Amino acid sequence: MNHCYVDKSVLLYEQITNKRTIPSMSSYADQVKYSQHKKMDMNSKLYCVGCGPGDPELITVKAKRLLESADVIFAPTSKEGKESIALSIVKPILEAREERPDIRELVFPMLKDRGVLKDIWRRNADEIARACVSGRLTLYLCVGDPSLYSTFSYLHKELKERYPSIDVEIVPGVASFTSFASNARMNLVEGEQIMAIVPACYDLARVKDVAKVCDTIVFLKDGRYFNDVVSILRDSMPDNSQIAIAQDVAGDEERISITTLREVDTSIADKYFSLMVVKRAR
Ligand SMILES: C[S@@+](CC[C@H](N)C(=O)[O-])C[C@H]1O[C@@H](n2cnc3c(N)ncnc32)[C@H](O)[C@@H]1O
Repeated sequence: MNHCYVDKSVLLYEQITNKRTIPSMSSYADQVKYSQHKKMDMNSKLYCVGCGPGDPELITVKAKRLLESADVIFAPTSKEGKESIALSIVKPILEAREERPDIRELVFPMLKDRGVLKDIWRRNADEIARACVSGRLTLYLCVGDPSLYSTFSYLHKELKERYPSIDVEIVPGVASFTSFASNARMNLVEGEQIMAIVPACYDLARVKDVAKVCDTIVFLKDGRYFNDVVSILRDSMPDNSQIAIAQDVAGDEERISITTLREVDTSIADKYFSLMVVKRAR
């Protein structure tokens, strides 16, 4: 039998269920038709669910409904044994269920070696695919909104490449920086203003250029780099520009400080779950 054109999820399905499902097919068209049929037959779907910034009340109605009925829930963590933040946000919803879902934490270590990371993304995508093709309602959780610096972006690429028949639906979530703006009573941009989002723990050489053209800059990823960012901003923006720093937004330990570029003290943000917003003074 020639499997060369058949979607990997069909093969995986056979492997998991021990059922031989692929009849002998003569043409590519037959195989594609069969693969499409299997896709519906296997109900292979993954929901990537944005869990918001930390307050369980900032979860969409759709996400809540999925969390109340999911069979398998995957949640990312950066270290073996370290509780997933996304999972901790939705815990109250899961604990209120009569029947507990099958919860599995997937480790995504904070490494920069793309080769090692690629192997990890693949392995994690394989594990998710195994759950999806078994027909169980499967979710993958993300902090905030899935489209912003989420581990899901890497998994999604792997799934598209290796398991194209798995249908992926993304359920948006409240992003950390919009939740922060609400809590700080801060308007981010208006009229013709331009905003940029910058991850602070990478090469900051581009911050100067960004600061020249933007009215508002949101810095995500790791408050321990904010001091370096502030030094660069002091060269590029008026020193009476408003700057706000926050940590653990929408959680019990939320800290927010609003000041100016001249006076700012970045020490209130001393961990990864921090963000900073600067608004150019006019
Ligand atoms: C991997 S990114 C994920 C961003 C997320 N998808 C979102 O919509 O905000 C993680 C970074 O988001 C920011 N972040 C997410 N949730 C936060 C919160 N509740 N409080 C402060 N920062 C948060 C921090 O900058 C953190 O380092």
